[in-house]
Amino acid sequence: MGKILVGGDVCLKGEIPVQGSKNAALPIMAGAVLHKGCTVLHNCPRISDVYNMEKMLINLGAKIHWEGHTLIIDCSRICEIAVEEGLSGRMRSSVMLMGSMLGRCGRVQIGYPGGCVIGKRPIDYHLDLFADMGVNIDREGQQLILSCNGLRGVCHRFPRPSVGATENGILAAVHAEEPVVLENCAREPEIGYLCAFLRCMGADIDGDGTDRICIGGGSRLHDGEYTIPADRIAAGTLLLSGAITRGQVNLAGAPRRDMDELLKVYEKMGGQFSWNGGTLLTDSRHVKKSVGRIVTDVYPGFPTDLQSPLMAVCCTLEGESRIRETIFEDRFRAAGQLARMGARIVTAGDEALVKGPVRLTGRTVRAQDLRGGAALVVAGLAARGQTVVECQEYIERGYESFYEEINLLGGRIVKMDSEA
Ligand code: UD1
Repeated sequence: MGKILVGGDVCLKGEIPVQGSKNAALPIMAGAVLHKGCTVLHNCPRISDVYNMEKMLINLGAKIHWEGHTLIIDCSRICEIAVEEGLSGRMRSSVMLMGSMLGRCGRVQIGYPGGCVIGKRPIDYHLDLFADMGVNIDREGQQLILSCNGLRGVCHRFPRPSVGATENGILAAVHAEEPVVLENCAREPEIGYLCAFLRCMGADIDGDGTDRICIGGGSRLHDGEYTIPADRIAAGTLLLSGAITRGQVNLAGAPRRDMDELLKVYEKMGGQFSWNGGTLLTDSRHVKKSVGRIVTDVYPGFPTDLQSPLMAVCCTLEGESRIRETIFEDRFRAAGQLARMGARIVTAGDEALVKGPVRLTGRTVRAQDLRGGAALVVAGLAARGQTVVECQEYIERGYESFYEEINLLGGRIVKMDSEA
């Protein structure tokens, strides 16, 4: 595993463009399988999770090539129904191939999805929905074999909103024999982006952005071209990097409609912002105050994916900040690493109490998941001395050029090769 060296005591200043959204790109790539033809995706982030999805699609028979950040996927011929186990186990989003392969081929063999260890992350909501739609589910060791003779129309209510299960349901329903109604859906913007993409290919979908989504079923898709929108989590991580360094970071192309909750929290800590066209201008020179109590929640609540980077910033704020994590049971792992850097954080159950301000000190710490790893980089920017972040591969699953961007803003990050 590789590591990065993060120089501390920096003040980030300047403008940086925001990368395309990971959580939009992955289900959309899976969605390309639904169409026996070509899909062109612009602004696709060049990150390891996307490369992993690319490999899974190629193994199923897709022809894929990149032109810069444009990904051209030709799924005219899908000749394989088994998703390579070593690949599916690497990421959560492999689960999306269940819905799209059932829609396309009526059959898929796939291992349980992997991904960041931030909680139990079962897939029962996905499987219950498929069973409702008439799918047979067999297990062979660690493999799931799903098969159906056509997908039937249903009105299905999820036990709680799940981003992945909502997306998987939409993917499967596009080729269902009758309309499918999904209730208690998640409302995250990336679900809307998946629907917009599928609509541009000819799918009949209504209600995304609400908790009730109706999919016409039986759609005949045609070639399509779609631009992956900006990544609200990558934008948020850069904003919080600016905040912890009390800098002034401008984010070109930040997704304005998707960042409300973070911007409210940013204002609470004393951050100031304005919009200049599509660019978010942030000024963190007066960032100081505790954020009070923050509760992560499904959209439009505070995103769980920004909880760890926010926690890093909270260490440097005056007074007590309380963070409650309601989405994943095991998402406070970064707290222990931050404590090694001098943070005063007490976690109990789903609550973390962060006492500040503390002067963080550079130490050797270990990334244990994507966003927790990013939080350690954020912390390192404000620490005294150098922070070594081990297992930086986690970070590269979701951030295309995080270190280079930080360096362009005045940071000092050096990436060491795995062997070094
Ligand atoms: C997606 C995002 C992830 C984000 C999360 C919550 C992608 C690729 N990943 O993950 O970055 O942190 O949404 O915003 O888009 N659950 C079940 N059974 C299921 C499915 C989910 O119990 O079958 C539970 C999960 O364990 C979790 C909660 O529901 O506690 C929400 O998970 P979900 O919204 O499904 O997250 P993901 O789609 O995995």
